[in-house]
Amino acid sequence: MGRVVVAGGSGFIGQALARMLVSRGYDVAVLTRRLPAVEGVIEFAQWNGRTVGDWAHVLDGAVAIVNLTGKSVNCRHTPENRREILASRVDSVRVLGEAIAHCTRPPNAFIQASGIGFYGDSGDRILDEKAPAGGGFMAKVCQEWEGAFERLELPATSKVILRIGMVLGRSGGALAVLARLTRLRLGGAAGDGRQFMSWIHRNDLNRMFAFAMERHDLTGPFNAVAPEPITNAEFMRQLRRVLHRPWSPPTPAPLVRLGAWLMGTEGDLALQSYRCISSRFVEAGFTFDYPQLTDALRNLYGMESRAAA
Ligand SMILES: NC(=O)c1ccc[n+]([C@@H]2O[C@H](COP(=O)([O-])OP(=O)(O)OC[C@H]3O[C@@H](n4cnc5c(N)ncnc54)[C@H](OP(=O)(O)O)[C@@H]3O)[C@@H](O)[C@H]2O)c1
Repeated sequence: MGRVVVAGGSGFIGQALARMLVSRGYDVAVLTRRLPAVEGVIEFAQWNGRTVGDWAHVLDGAVAIVNLTGKSVNCRHTPENRREILASRVDSVRVLGEAIAHCTRPPNAFIQASGIGFYGDSGDRILDEKAPAGGGFMAKVCQEWEGAFERLELPATSKVILRIGMVLGRSGGALAVLARLTRLRLGGAAGDGRQFMSWIHRNDLNRMFAFAMERHDLTGPFNAVAPEPITNAEFMRQLRRVLHRPWSPPTPAPLVRLGAWLMGTEGDLALQSYRCISSRFVEAGFTFDYPQLTDALRNLYGMESRAAA
């Protein structure tokens, strides 16, 4: 099957993606700032995400590279954190491009993570890949991130961008935080609850990465979201139901911001509205294992639901 390189593959999405790729018969090499290692069939090569080094050999002859690198946005957006959020993304794109340009056998495909933050806080407007770029800090980050990727001149490598929505998995990401709050009976809507959440089950996201990698005719940006974005109030209602918790009152927006600040993060992450659909994946023939939120949540919390039932 060949080797897939996953840059930033030690995190929430990357760990599951690496496991899935191994189960499909690929060899996986992860680029990480941690010490080099081999765990099972996964090779961890050390890089700094900024400069080309010995690690670059893993790209030569690889079938694909997936880049998930980036400082988590789940932090207080201080000037220093903002700088690192942007630099870690743009630098990793640039240095991977430099390394690929020196390969004798460059990867066939380069799949780059981006986010639906690209569109900016957009109310109830439906956003497919043709929607224009928006404003605000996250939109600017995504636009510069994608801009760096678009500028790479890699004639032998197809380039795909996944604008990822809120990824649902049990072991991390935003859902783990929302589930913890819900178990503490703090699982009410955030603000007026009318903001849209565009989510995707982590397994479907990983299948999208594989789909984009294996279909050599695909290029450009794809929204990586389930077909049904849902309001925050409805999302929290469904989460409470799956976790067998009673109704909880909504948390007014100023309290969401204060709570987020106390938790070391940003209230905007819970209050902004993104109503995205993935026209391009659907047109390309991708089918979802978890198109509905209820099924996605039941899959993730099924044991708990049954135990509590
Ligand atoms: N999770 C989501 O819901 C979601 C939604 C939209 C977009 N995304 C994007 O998808 C990508 C992966 O998300 P994730 O949830 O898997 O993130 P994650 O768990 O934070 O993993 C990102 C990886 O990037 C590396 N990294 C962090 N800071 C870095 C820095 N300053 N310089 C170089 N490398 C750095 C880390 O690897 P090492 O420490 O091993 O070097 C880390 O494991 C990110 O770019 C994220 O913005 C995620």
